[in-house]
Amino acid sequence: MSTIAVVPGSFDPVTLGHLDVIRRAALIFDEVHVLVVHNPGKNAMLPISERVNLLQKSIDEDPLIASQQVTVASWSVGLLVDYCTEVGAKVLVKGLRSQIDVAYETPMVLMNRSLAGVETVFLLPEPAHSHVSSSLVRQVASLGGDVSDYVPTAVAKYLDSTRPA
Ligand code: PNS
Repeated sequence: MSTIAVVPGSFDPVTLGHLDVIRRAALIFDEVHVLVVHNPGKNAMLPISERVNLLQKSIDEDPLIASQQVTVASWSVGLLVDYCTEVGAKVLVKGLRSQIDVAYETPMVLMNRSLAGVETVFLLPEPAHSHVSSSLVRQVASLGGDVSDYVPTAVAKYLDSTRPA
């Protein structure tokens, strides 16, 4: 039986740290669903459809990700574990950068386990990405900074194309 893992996140936008985690998840699990989830606690920069589009392009352009094994989807109604139940996934994969992430993620791990028996596996991206977050990328980009070291090429091109002249 194949093991399906879901990598959830806001991906607003996807960063090199996210891609690193997706790549590692694809080496472990038979099938990986990267899921763009609406996070009501955050003010989004990109519409969900654009986040899905940029994730798909970034995965397609990454030679280290076998894209036939990784699918991108979105989920904006209901619980994250409802998606897991729908597709038969028993595992969530999250990236951890620091102790702050551990504190933020722990209650969600326990809630998702309690709601539906879905377990969470944490993967550490390369330390070179440990200071990279979507929120800092949004901030740097909105203030006119260069974010090309922190995001996949597709995202850097997209942000350039939307920069006011
Ligand atoms: O990239 P983010 O913003 O850190 O991702 C957070 C996300 C989307 C994974 C988190 O907000 C989440 O799990 N949302 C789903 C809502 C849900 O099911 N909540 C109840 C159980 S914790």
